[in-house]
Amino acid sequence: MSKTPLHQSPPASPTLVPLSKPSSQANGGIAILPVQSAPSIQKSPRKVRVGLASNTIEVVASPSPIEKSLSVKAVVTVKPTTGGFFSELGISGGFDMITDLIGKTLLLELVSAELDPKTGQEKGTIKGYAHKNGQNEEEVTYECKFEVGEEFGEVGAVFVENEHHKEMYLKDIVLDGFAGGPINISCNSWVHSKYDNPQKRVFFTNKCYLPTETPSGLRRLREEELVILRGDGQGERKSYERIYDYDVYNDLGNPDSDVDKKRPVLGGKEFPYPRRCRTGRPRTNTDPLSESRSGSIYVPRDEQFSTIKGLTFSAKTVYSVVHALVPSLETAIVDSNLGFPHFTAIDELFNEGVNLPQLQKQGFLKDLLPRLVKTVTDASEDVLRFETPETMIRDRFFWFSDEEFARQTLAGINPYAIQLVTEWPLMSELDPKVYGPPESAITTEIIEREIKGFMTVDEAVKQKKLFMLDYHDLFLPYVNKVRQLKGTTLYGSRTLLFLTPDETLKPLAIELTRPPTDDGKPQWKQVFTPTCHATSMWLWRLAKAHVLAHDSGYHQLVSHWLRTHCATEPYIIATNRQLSEMHPIYKLLQPHFRYTMEINALARGYLINGDGIIETTFSPGKYSMELSAVAYDKQWQFDLQGLPNDLISRGLAVEDPTAPHGHKLAIEDYPFANDGLLLWDTIKEWVTKYVNHYYPDPSCIASDKELQSWWTEIRTVGHGDKKDSPGWPDLKTPSDLIHIVTTMVWVASGHHAAVNFGQYTYAGYFPNRPTIARTKMPVEDPTEEELKMFWDKPEGALLTCFPSQIQATKVMAVLDVLSNHSPDEEYMGQDPEPAWKEEPVINAAFERFHGRLKELEGIIDARNTDQSFKNRSGAGIVPYELLKPFSEPGVTGKGVPYSISI
Ligand SMILES: [Fe+2]
Repeated sequence: MSKTPLHQSPPASPTLVPLSKPSSQANGGIAILPVQSAPSIQKSPRKVRVGLASNTIEVVASPSPIEKSLSVKAVVTVKPTTGGFFSELGISGGFDMITDLIGKTLLLELVSAELDPKTGQEKGTIKGYAHKNGQNEEEVTYECKFEVGEEFGEVGAVFVENEHHKEMYLKDIVLDGFAGGPINISCNSWVHSKYDNPQKRVFFTNKCYLPTETPSGLRRLREEELVILRGDGQGERKSYERIYDYDVYNDLGNPDSDVDKKRPVLGGKEFPYPRRCRTGRPRTNTDPLSESRSGSIYVPRDEQFSTIKGLTFSAKTVYSVVHALVPSLETAIVDSNLGFPHFTAIDELFNEGVNLPQLQKQGFLKDLLPRLVKTVTDASEDVLRFETPETMIRDRFFWFSDEEFARQTLAGINPYAIQLVTEWPLMSELDPKVYGPPESAITTEIIEREIKGFMTVDEAVKQKKLFMLDYHDLFLPYVNKVRQLKGTTLYGSRTLLFLTPDETLKPLAIELTRPPTDDGKPQWKQVFTPTCHATSMWLWRLAKAHVLAHDSGYHQLVSHWLRTHCATEPYIIATNRQLSEMHPIYKLLQPHFRYTMEINALARGYLINGDGIIETTFSPGKYSMELSAVAYDKQWQFDLQGLPNDLISRGLAVEDPTAPHGHKLAIEDYPFANDGLLLWDTIKEWVTKYVNHYYPDPSCIASDKELQSWWTEIRTVGHGDKKDSPGWPDLKTPSDLIHIVTTMVWVASGHHAAVNFGQYTYAGYFPNRPTIARTKMPVEDPTEEELKMFWDKPEGALLTCFPSQIQATKVMAVLDVLSNHSPDEEYMGQDPEPAWKEEPVINAAFERFHGRLKELEGIIDARNTDQSFKNRSGAGIVPYELLKPFSEPGVTGKGVPYSISI
């Protein structure tokens, strides 16, 4: 058969049959125009009346009196949108759809799942116009009746043509009247107006099929739908398009506005990076490698959920903060370099707040950010008043203690950095000719003095008692560059910690290093220890502030952005390009990919962009994103993204079949790892049951063309800069697939939740986690004046090193909204996908998954009240709940959503 153009319905029968009973619609029209495909049957023509809303037309129809038929009712549910909030953002286009509905219809065409056995051709479709027959605030329904002849067989898909002049959001279609019960088609998709694009949309039923099992009548449509979604890679993408394609990160800078805002391309040989969604915007005038930031930020239409989610949709609050609140802050705090004059001035952010005169005109902010923006009743100004973080409520002085600093490496928001010391002495792998002597200044003597005769360093290494935060080799190459920037500085750092017999960590030493400078100064490095003398103690506090800024930067740029948001985007693009919506693995992954492309587009626009929130508030300044590319190049491997391998690679776990979850932890009371392994195993059990159900024959993995293309594209295109690097598992067996999918699900759920939802709790009071250390140590090549200032008022030196007022308040406001769960948050395992419910085996597996996650809540609660777990319970300690599966709305420090949506 000659190939029909993309998504053209099969040649519809040239004849029409009338309804047995014309149904009268609410709008007064006769609504039904059924079409039956039975080309081989002779039919005698007669006239029928067919209504199209208020118009009535006459058509010629051919009944087939001998054929039995079923009366089938189609109900289409359409979601009204919440309005055009995002239109100014340019990443979606809201509109009030209800006003556009009257008198307009949807043309539906039922597609048979099977080819015509006599001709081997696709059967004709059965057409009908669906008319609006009900609406409430939540949804609008359209109805249509069909007569389906028994020869038509099972319905496999429905074509939809939107006769309105505007797009509409189709939630689902239910076809009722078949002997086997209703057929459900979950759409959750925007359908364009036929006036914008004559191509019809196809929606398959919820049934999953591996490619080779696709019913014969749907094979062409399955392939063609993927061709449409891949697009042609040409031109600028329009906001209504659905095309998933790849591009490099070349839109972070804005060189046309200012030459200082030019940024390197991330992605490619110089700076390997995952790919982002291609938007096809024109190149800038001044840099042919950069894409212009003018116009909208395209994401495929169905990735734009903002207009159908509630008003509190997370992206909206982020947008409000960066777009309205931050400019107001910049007006209120005139001197951008001004630090906090004393510690009580920091406390005032939670008590009195910051006056924001500008917000008078932006009343909507108060509704969107009720936690942050308050009206003072007896004054004419609005006030930005921060909520006191849970850590502060429980212990006013929590941030000051070394024990808490160490505990947070295991139970804070960056539990991904701590690693076992396996070799002694510590050595840098950087080129000594450029960076100076590679030997660490942390000597055996220093460590043995600090562990006070417990054991020798050799014993400590052998017994796995020495741990480290290693920000030496990653940061050192950027130190001289960053020091050229105003208002910031940088070191390479190493922080050594000792595991005491009660399973808590004790910080031993911090080494800060500056490489040789361009003006001829040699390498500088010094070790600071928490000794009792006043000078050493203040230097220790200052060194700790530097390490915390390093850890903050690594957390945001690597543990959070790179490893979750950024690394996941290519999986989403490949899944939409290579796996049909009817592929079971598409259906399994889809909820884990919701909202991520949209929030990532917003991040590219306002958070990680040149001169954006990250660059202006973190130590590495305009080199921040480059550093995340270096981390991707040097550290990222797919096989290390799953939790067990991640722990093993950092020396925090070894495989041990006798240990819980098959892994023995180097630190038994490691809250993130303990709860994480529970969650990992729970996800893996669910994924295993799912995969084994759809691949009962293991050889089907290797022969599944869609699946193989998907995995190849992820490795060679989406993460193509690392295609020749180690760590890519094969995809030949069900166990390979289970491992790959479990890893993706874990990254989108557990990993992201662990590094995201505690941000305000732990960094809302910034002395605990400053994002930037602005001044060098007073003992590094000091001037007399610097030394005197330090000696006279060391607290002043610490406050000057900390973020400025504007930096601190910007970050606090952003972290507050990033830590928030919206009331319509979708927690993993809470509600099943419609397709999962329809397959009894999968439904049962989901029930088990849900039940297990509920059990986890109890287990985690019990752990948090067990005083023997000193790293998660104790006086004034915030319990470790970041991996507790469910949560109430708000900033709760718990809850694991399906996907990365904030
Ligand atoms: Fe996030």
